[in-house]
Parts: sequence; structure tokens; C-alpha cells
Amino acid sequence: MASHLGGEVVAAGNYDDIINDSLSLTGKYLSGDFKIEPPKSVRKWNRSLKIEGARQHNLKDITAEFPLNVLCVVSGVSGSGKTTLVKQILYPALKKIKGEIADKIGFHKAITGDVDSIAQIEMVDQNPIGKSSRSNPVTYIKAYDDIRDLFAKQPLSKMRGFQPKHFSFNVDGGRCDTCKGEGEQIVEMQFLADVHLTCEVCGGKKFKEEVLEVKYKEKSIYDILELSVDEAIEFFKEEKNIVKAIQPLSDVGLGYVKLGQSSDTLSGGEAQRVKLASFLGKGKNADKILFIFDEPTTGLHFHDIKKLLASFNALIEQGHSIIVVEHNTDVIRCADWVIELGPEAGDGGGTIVYAGTPAGLKKVKESRTAVFL
Ligand SMILES: Nc1ncnc2c1ncn2[C@@H]1O[C@H](COP(=O)(O)OP(=O)(O)OP(=O)(O)O)[C@@H](O)[C@H]1O
Ligand SMILES: [Mg+2]
Ligand SMILES: [Zn+2]
Repeated sequence: MASHLGGEVVAAGNYDDIINDSLSLTGKYLSGDFKIEPPKSVRKWNRSLKIEGARQHNLKDITAEFPLNVLCVVSGVSGSGKTTLVKQILYPALKKIKGEIADKIGFHKAITGDVDSIAQIEMVDQNPIGKSSRSNPVTYIKAYDDIRDLFAKQPLSKMRGFQPKHFSFNVDGGRCDTCKGEGEQIVEMQFLADVHLTCEVCGGKKFKEEVLEVKYKEKSIYDILELSVDEAIEFFKEEKNIVKAIQPLSDVGLGYVKLGQSSDTLSGGEAQRVKLASFLGKGKNADKILFIFDEPTTGLHFHDIKKLLASFNALIEQGHSIIVVEHNTDVIRCADWVIELGPEAGDGGGTIVYAGTPAGLKKVKESRTAVFL
């Protein structure tokens, strides 16, 4: 369980205790009850991107082919050259081709292949999605606009002349003037961490009293922000556009997060999935994106890795492509295609040990990953 459903210590003890505790998700994974099931078959592909003649750092003049519209994992021991190949060559080189501002590009001869079949390239990390406590998952994925419109349409809003902007915490008008819609006041303490105090004017409700009096199905805008994503999907079921806008947050496994939870309090893995939800929300007809991840499972529990993999699949179903640099064997097993660099680190690495489906990797003697699959 996570967030407001979590926080209890569900199991403490030795391996057997954890396995036997039916509430512990870790136990379910250790005992094999919950497994990350690799897909029964791998996706086929016909489009790809190629980096030719990569020579940055330890890379030994290699040519790497990355299939598109699938989950492609780049594996290999630490120091084998994964980040150099993907983040220092492929990412900036493609950005430059697309006319975007790019960082320094690592040495290579050319990028070839179906460059035109992707419109955009995105690197997704676990960095926070916002520093202000005013930003939150619904504002990030732009679902809040429809909610504000709905509140502005209520009879009391009309009588009082409230517009959608009165239900925004980003501009003056409806938000609490004292805390500027943050719901709290931050007291800076010299030498100590800042102290967060609930705003005494609005009592943490972020809006002025006359705005909070506007209700939709008995709930104020503050009550709405207190709903979890899944509760909101149920609550707004007559408002199809709102449900459609919020649904991606549930699809990436964030159904338990409150709509109004400040972005700065989301965990790294949660922030990463909010970002993916914002892309999922654009739907099947959106521009095709190549997503790049460098070790996205760092710090994640098996259960969260499962959600991340489900989010990857949802993006691929919409026609996007995913390249993941990863050591995690569950992710490697779920890949459609694996490129392993190595065999060793530094000068002993920098070559392609294997490129193919995960099943084939098991048979490669030089692979340091194969034994763990
Ligand atoms: N800026 C740099 N200058 C010189 N050598 C570097 C630089 N960055 C990386 N290297 C070297 O290049 C090799 C490949 O590094 P890289 O970061 O690509 O490995 P990696 O496979 O991503 O490893 P990890 O799994 O630890 O992230 C390593 O030997 C590393 O020490
Ligand atoms: Mg790396
Ligand atoms: Zn206030």
C-alpha cells in the first residue's frame, strides 16, 4: 500500500515471517505468489534507429540498432558504456536532428534508420515534477482545468460571478490571500529545516470561504482535492471529460494518490509515473515519442516495478517507443529486445555482447546478465 493507505509497518521479522504475512507485498514477491510475469511472446518490430561508429569513452567504434515501437533494454555491468551510448550519444544526437537544443554529443559517425517515424524524444527521470506545494498530480496532467470549469458552472458560482480562475490556486481571486493557495505557511528557520504550519486563515483549505461554499454533488473544491484518483473517477462518473483526463493516473498505478497531494511530496517513483500519465493522457493520435530511461527502477519495490512495466506497455500500445538502461532482471526479462554491452567495465567493455530477444541472452557465455535470468 502506498501514501495515505500505507505508512503502517505491515511486516517485521525474518524471511519466514515476511513470507507468511499475507499483507506484505514483499512477502508475496519473495514467495513467488506475486511474480513479475514476463510476457508470453515478444513484440515484433520492423522500424529502428541506428547509431553508427560510436567511440565516446570506452565504446569501441560500435554500431547499435535500437528497435522502435517496442521495449528495448540496454543491459551490461556497471561501467560497460550504457549511459554513454544512450544518454550521451543517442539522446542529444536525436534532439539535434529534431531541431531542439542539445547537450554535447558523444563521438559517433552517424544516426541512421527511421528517424522520421518519431516526432519527439523524452528523457524521463525520478526528479520532482514541481517544487511549489501548489502543483499536484491533477494540475500536472492538466485534468484540473475541467474540474475548475465544472465548479464555475454551478449556480452559486454564476450568482457570485465566479469564473474558472477563482478555483485556481495559481492566481489571486479565489485562493486564500494569506497562504496564496498553498494551504500552509513556511517558517524559515536558521540552521534548521523549514517549519510548515497550516495556514490559520483558511485552515489549510487553500481557498476563500465564499469559494468553498460552491459545491458540486455536496463537495467543495477543497473536498475534491482530498479525493484519491480512484475515488474521483467514481465521483465524477457523469463528467466524461474529467474521468478521461484523470484515468491515466490510475492506469500508471497511482489510483491511491490524492488529487491535491503536493508535487513536492511525491516519491521519485510516483513522480516518474505522473510524467508517464501526462503522456498517456494525450492518447493514440498524439505525436510518436521515443522515451529514454536510465535505471528507472532505482529505489523501487517489485510492486512498483510491475506498475512501471505496465505503464511502459500502455505507452507502447499507443505507438510510442521505449529504451531503458537497466540492470534489473525483471525488466530485462520483460523486454522485447535486449542490447547487452560489455563484457566488462571500462576498457574491458564498450562492445556489444548481445543484441536480440531476452530468451537468446540466456545462452550467451560472455553475458554477465545471462546467469541471473
Ligand atoms: N566523463 C567521462 N570521462 C571519462 N570517462 C568516462 C566519463 N564518463 C564515463 N566514463 C567511463 O566510460 C565507461 C562507461 O561509463 P558509463 O557511464 O557509460 O557506464 P554504464 O554502463 O552506464 O555504468 P552504470 O551501470 O554504472 O551506470 C566507464 O569506464 C566510465 O568510467
Ligand atoms: Mg549508467
Ligand atoms: Zn490560507
